[in-house]
Amino acid sequence: MIDITANPFDIFAIWMADAEATEPNDPNAMTVATSTPAGHPSARIVLLKSWDRNGFVFYTNLESRKSGEIAANPHVALLFHWKSRRRQIRIEGTAAQVGDAEADAYFQTRPRPSRIGAWASDQSRPLPDRALLEQRLAAATARYAEGDVPRPPHWSGWQVTPTAIEFWEDREYRLHDRARFTRTGTRIGTEWTATRLYP
Ligand SMILES: Cc1cc2nc3c(=O)[nH]c(=O)nc-3n(C[C@H](O)[C@H](O)[C@H](O)COP(=O)(O)O)c2cc1C
Repeated sequence: MIDITANPFDIFAIWMADAEATEPNDPNAMTVATSTPAGHPSARIVLLKSWDRNGFVFYTNLESRKSGEIAANPHVALLFHWKSRRRQIRIEGTAAQVGDAEADAYFQTRPRPSRIGAWASDQSRPLPDRALLEQRLAAATARYAEGDVPRPPHWSGWQVTPTAIEFWEDREYRLHDRARFTRTGTRIGTEWTATRLYP
């Protein structure tokens, strides 16, 4: 049973570690749902690159559709589903851009071709011909043939500070175990109230 007296970040840590041990691919893949100010939702998968008690961080192009939607409406939802473990975690919260130093530090851990690729892709914009992407990649590869590949100004991370975290675990006869933690205080990471929900 999910321990509703526990801190949800501690449960998250255990479930993520389990996923890392058992999922064959991308245990850190999560859906990010955003929406426009008019309330039109959209969702896509990204990779969770770091997390702590302040929030969950993913990296992307700041000129992408998702980033435009977040800039206009920072309320987002994250969703993990680990099929082999039959577990789901739903997170709701507010996204804010990570600092330049944090983004730079993460960018430098990426393989060099990925760093160069970040300069070549105009994420979410129309690409009339795949050859254009190849040309832009060749140009960026030539530009950064030697030395450092700096982080593009249009590439950074979003940190999602949770206001609610909900855990779901498969149980027999669809009588699943489900618990929702809601943040009640401003001391992030410490103040939560939890309740079980009918599955
Ligand atoms: C397994 C997986 C991991 C992905 N990881 C990322 C990621 O970390 N960052 C990212 O920008 N896009 C990632 N993508 C691509 C996104 O799903 C999406 O196509 C892209 O970010 C553009 O989304 P947007 O137009 O809504 O902004 C990933 C896709 C998959 C299937």
